Amino acid sequence: MNACIMLISFLFLFSTIIVVLHVNHTQINYQSLVSFDKGFNPLYGEHNITPYEANKSVQISMDQTTSSGFSSKLMYMHGYFESSIKLPQNYSAGVVVTFYMCNDRKYPYRHDEIDFEFLGHIHGQDWLVQTNFYGNGSTGRGREERYVLWFDPSQDFHRYGIMWTDDIITYYVDDVPIRHVRRVEAMRGDFPSKEMGLFGTIWNGSDWATGGGKHKLDLSYGPYVAKYSSFVLNGCGVDPNRKRNRCEFSNGLRSKERDRMQGFRRKYMTYSYCYDKKRYVVPLPECVVDFEELEHLRKFDRWTFGAF
Ligand SMILES: *[C@@H]1O[C@H](CO)[C@@H](O)[C@H](O)[C@H]1NC(C)=O
Ligand SMILES: *[C@@H]1O[C@H](CO)[C@@H](O)[C@H](O)[C@H]1NC(C)=O
Ligand SMILES: *[C@@H]1O[C@H](CO)[C@@H](O)[C@H](O)[C@H]1NC(C)=O
Ligand SMILES: *[C@@H]1O[C@H](CO)[C@@H](O)[C@H](O)[C@H]1NC(C)=O
Ligand SMILES: *[C@@H]1O[C@H](CO)[C@@H](O)[C@H](O)[C@H]1NC(C)=O
Repeated sequence: MNACIMLISFLFLFSTIIVVLHVNHTQINYQSLVSFDKGFNPLYGEHNITPYEANKSVQISMDQTTSSGFSSKLMYMHGYFESSIKLPQNYSAGVVVTFYMCNDRKYPYRHDEIDFEFLGHIHGQDWLVQTNFYGNGSTGRGREERYVLWFDPSQDFHRYGIMWTDDIITYYVDDVPIRHVRRVEAMRGDFPSKEMGLFGTIWNGSDWATGGGKHKLDLSYGPYVAKYSSFVLNGCGVDPNRKRNRCEFSNGLRSKERDRMQGFRRKYMTYSYCYDKKRYVVPLPECVVDFEELEHLRKFDRWTFGAF
């Protein structure tokens, strides 16, 4: 009897160790690059969508006739998603380029979303990228953050990645985790929790994107071209004809990653909803105050940003 229990415990422990090792190894698998035609379909503005390099990459553009965008063929429940992206060069105020996950077509009034949004650019100013997410239609509670990029994203390709599990969302730029959200109970439905597709789009965001809407789209500088390459769709595909792929991911950040993230945020973050006391009198429940981040933000705007 005792021996039997011991054996069962041993087997249990052993299999737990195997699972833990397995999770470790599947964290990010750069092998699974997917070509544009295998992973995606045009969504709109089809004649402004041009695959190149034998379908490995795609360029999408906005001109006098149309903006454009593409979407993944499958929807995914959790995973790691990445693309190398090169933004339009030159004056690009009002031009929003995105890489994001969403399910608003399938769940119109309770959609989930995880975003990267590039906010356009004018000569001499910083390049800004925004991240945000919604869960179950929580559009009344934006969770935006904005950061300066430490490079010119229109000169070269850089990797932008989203890790999404049951418990966390992590945004990566190249190998730097720039934002890490841990789900807490009090968020209730606000954390993305239904399968989503992946999208890339370019469109006119003149009324808000660049300088808060101060600098507008000028199509005489167009066509505006954004290039996407090296797609990683390392997710659990939800295919109605097949069972869900085996799919497990690690939730944490290694301490080295956490240090890099802190270094990035304390230097390059320009906005976080977590410290915006004008907008949220009580901070949203997942917010964790980092006093050095706060000090950094208060250098820009002591009236908006404060500790709670
Ligand atoms: C698993 O990840 C930890 C850090 O999270 C690392 O120290 C360890 O070497 C990894 N183990 C394997 C087998 O890759
Ligand atoms: C690119 O993908 C399209 C659509 O699947 C296909 O018709 C075409 O042959 C592909 N081109 C190359 C060079 O693989
Ligand atoms: C911006 O675009 C204009 C018009 O196409 C071109 O003459 C100019 O050289 C470009 N500037 C840069 C910095 O690329
Ligand atoms: C999501 O929203 C729907 C519709 O508003 C609601 O019925 C459901 O309970 C919500 N789910 C969660 C997990 O909050
Ligand atoms: C871009 O959007 C702005 C604000 O919505 C609008 O006023 C403007 O006409 C648009 N420009 C073009 C070229 O569509």
